[in-house]
Amino acid sequence: MPRIISIEDDAILSLDECVDRLRDTGFDPRDEDSLAHAALQLRRLGNDRAFLGDMLVSELAARHREYGRPDNYGPQCVVLSAPGAGFFLRANMWPAAQDHMLKASGGGSFSLGLPHDHNFSFLTLGYFGPGSWSDYYTYDYETVAGWSGEPVDLRFEERARLEEGKIMLYRAHRDVHLQLPADSLSVSINIMHTHGAQGWLDQYRFDVENKQVGGIVSGGASEAWLRIAVGLGGEEAIDLAHRFAARHPSDRMRLTALDALASIAPDDATRDTLWRGAESGGSVLIAREATARREALTG
Ligand SMILES: [Fe+2]
Repeated sequence: MPRIISIEDDAILSLDECVDRLRDTGFDPRDEDSLAHAALQLRRLGNDRAFLGDMLVSELAARHREYGRPDNYGPQCVVLSAPGAGFFLRANMWPAAQDHMLKASGGGSFSLGLPHDHNFSFLTLGYFGPGSWSDYYTYDYETVAGWSGEPVDLRFEERARLEEGKIMLYRAHRDVHLQLPADSLSVSINIMHTHGAQGWLDQYRFDVENKQVGGIVSGGASEAWLRIAVGLGGEEAIDLAHRFAARHPSDRMRLTALDALASIAPDDATRDTLWRGAESGGSVLIAREATARREALTG
């Protein structure tokens, strides 16, 4: 399960001070000194009991007219700092089962009930409320190719919650959690690790009942753009998809290119030929997905 970091400190940092201190050193969770430094700044930011409420009220008052922070997560998440120096800060709201927004939108809108790992490490602090619950598992990323239905040695560790004041390090590609509603509305604050290769490293959802990979959930904009460009039928897009399908360093992008080409194939026989070739392309992920695509054609 995520590593619990015990650190006590009574000092209070404003959000800007916290960001400045983290920017001065950068954030690398693989480095123990960097990790300890970041956890201390997070503890001190958490000691400011007013900053988040004040910020939300001021944003609401301004009706977002001066909202300059990047925020692409939706209403559950407030991005607190722009990415830089290997990190960004965010706050997450975790609704309770009885909250109207959860009843109205369903758990999927809040990443609840969806077992997953992360393709980034992050520090999290229980900032407000009793904290959301998670069932925690671990697995070994290096043993997984990532095809849907692939068996995984998923080891259950415990059910725990992120109580107010608790700091945990979620380890990229190792910790898996199935998040459950908080007992009442709760908020966590995260220091998210960012690095250039992150987008190409896969994040999975899991079937914890059957101990299988459910699928890859970390598809990026490049994949969506390729699918759209090929769907629009441009010759260059189709040529690019052929080249990506054959040689792209990311198996996920190769599979996306194959899916794009299959989507514009004139008939199932052509699709079958495409996927049959992919079965012997040298990638376990692509081969297994290609077989599943072929079975879906014939089934
Ligand atoms: Fe998560």
